Amino acid sequence: MSHYDLHLFFCCNRRSDTGGNWSCAASGAEALYLYAKDRLKALDPHKSKRIRINSSGCLGHCDDGPSLVIYPEGVWYRYHNEQDIDDIIAQHILSGKIVERLLM
Ligand code: FES
Repeated sequence: MSHYDLHLFFCCNRRSDTGGNWSCAASGAEALYLYAKDRLKALDPHKSKRIRINSSGCLGHCDDGPSLVIYPEGVWYRYHNEQDIDDIIAQHILSGKIVERLLM
């Protein structure tokens, strides 16, 4: 049994070798990870679900990211801006609907 209803992992990996390798942090993942934490607190102040958001190292989808994965479903998203994060929180996290346009 999981401790959480939903557990999100945001890749915040930053590569030091930029020789053609892309990394999520280079595209703003760290700021959007912090934005997601703040937005979730604001949108679900009473914690209707047990939700955990963590930053992570490389998740292995570098070319498709910035990437995040939500368990227990194992749904993978790419995102690029605050609107994408807002949609993931409002639709997936709070309403249980997959955000098709952001799926990997
Ligand atoms: S650097 Fe983010 S998935 Fe690899």
